[in-house]
Amino acid sequence: MFNRKDLLGLRDLSENEIMTILETAKIMKEKIDNPLKRSDELKSASVVTLFYENSTRTKMSFMLAGDYLGAIVKDLGVSTSSVNKGESLIDTGLNLDQMGINVMIIRHSMTGAPHILAKNVNASVVNAGDGINEHPTQALLDLFTILDYKKRFKGLNVTILGDISHSRVARSNVFGLTKLGAKVTLAGPSTLVSNSMKSLGVDVVTNIPKAVSNADVVMGLRIQFERQKAMPFPSLREYSSLFGVNNDILKYAKDDVLVMHPGPVNRGIEFSTEVIDGKHSVINIQVKNGVAVRMAILKLLTERGN
Ligand code: CP
Repeated sequence: MFNRKDLLGLRDLSENEIMTILETAKIMKEKIDNPLKRSDELKSASVVTLFYENSTRTKMSFMLAGDYLGAIVKDLGVSTSSVNKGESLIDTGLNLDQMGINVMIIRHSMTGAPHILAKNVNASVVNAGDGINEHPTQALLDLFTILDYKKRFKGLNVTILGDISHSRVARSNVFGLTKLGAKVTLAGPSTLVSNSMKSLGVDVVTNIPKAVSNADVVMGLRIQFERQKAMPFPSLREYSSLFGVNNDILKYAKDDVLVMHPGPVNRGIEFSTEVIDGKHSVINIQVKNGVAVRMAILKLLTERGN
């Protein structure tokens, strides 16, 4: 059951709502590989992407998700829009509302920007990443991928490592995974993972072999230098040798461990190239699943409006 106007985060979604999205995505995934199964079920819907921060995967997969379902899909092109003449987020949204947009997909550096937009427009708003707060559609595609391979969440050991403090992906995954019964360990240098995150019901570990031990899933995260004023460790070489994962470190995990990463990956820093391209990696499959999950989200949000 999914009956919301907006999708703003996983913190507020119920287990039931998350599972509805994942089950719908499973049906949608068939349409990606088989163009004959694509449809025009969203032909009366108009979708716009408003990306105030850069993106490859999220923006492109939302645009393709809309295309595969027959929706009208446009990108505002924020960097060449009247945002540069000082137009506010709310005024931008009100103008798009008047043009008949049904779904606004927004990425913004400010925590809460999608929530402000959602309160002020008639269209459904999807959070495509807001500052260091949440990236719900990334976490949903991660959950979809984990469920596809492991067939369950309860009792799974999921280790998320890297720049946790600045990661909206980590936060959304923590909300989703803990709700669904997985055991989450957050790992990285103490400058990038705070013990205060234990209040979210997770373990916090700074020793990487210990963090990876017995893991069913190891998810790496990029260091987000763009959100930091000071270097959080002495050098990238030291970071990768102390906190990166290579095949030797991966041996501490379960034999059938899944290696995941939301992208973009910085090869040789959070993961070695042998891990990124290795037999445990589902990083490329996550990208395909991202299209399916975003098709499901567009369908569920627009169906609600019918
Ligand atoms: N994972 C993710 O959000 O990638 P993009 O920044 O390319 O959208």
